[in-house]
Amino acid sequence: MTSSLSTDRLVVAVDGPSGSGKSSVSREAARRLGAAYLDTGAMYRAVTLSCLEEGVDLASRQAVAEAVRRAEIEVSTDPEQEQTVLVNGRNVTQEIREPRISERVSAVATTPQARENLVARQREIIGAHPRIVAEGRDITTVVAPDADARILLTASEEARLRRRGLQLGGSQSAEQLAEQVTGRDRKDSALVNFTSAADGVVTLDSSDLDFEQTVQAVLEIVLRAGSEGTR
Ligand code: DC
Repeated sequence: MTSSLSTDRLVVAVDGPSGSGKSSVSREAARRLGAAYLDTGAMYRAVTLSCLEEGVDLASRQAVAEAVRRAEIEVSTDPEQEQTVLVNGRNVTQEIREPRISERVSAVATTPQARENLVARQREIIGAHPRIVAEGRDITTVVAPDADARILLTASEEARLRRRGLQLGGSQSAEQLAEQVTGRDRKDSALVNFTSAADGVVTLDSSDLDFEQTVQAVLEIVLRAGSEGTR
């Protein structure tokens, strides 16, 4: 039996709603697996910023799709380094986390042609890395349904609101937070189902787990998937 923790090729797909902790958990799991890390949400955020900079009407699907096609984006994939996100050569790492982006990103995420374009770019990045942990909303189902391990990371609404509130340093009111977490999930789930696990996807509920326990649980799922795949 070969352990997937040491095989040459390893793709781990992690999906989940806002505030489920999937970014920090996936990054740490990638570190421990000696794998690259892809934050696909950062790509949706980056192209949203590009649309805003170009003054694109977010209500026009065609205009959004064209702007997404034009946008040059670069997202770092080394989990050992601070994340950097470039849009048309400009460093927008901090900017894409601002509420004005969080509030508008669903307009891009619910435009089918924009998704198609980003999914193709994500597959290319995944293909270029022998070992990678990729996280988002449709990685287990659309981007990498053949991944070696597929995980849906969930958490109760209360836990997700609390985590996102801490992440934003208490700068948001309860209403703003609810809009950015539950409101956004509602909009985003119009095209993608990330609340229930597809066939073969393991659900991991992190509501009562701390960060380390969640990372360990992910690593165990990866290990188990590897031993089943090589049996
Ligand atoms: O994970 P995040 O909050 O940074 O994601 C930003 C937005 O991008 C979120 O509103 C949903 C969307 N998204 C998506 O539709 N599909 C993905 N694979 C990743 C993110």
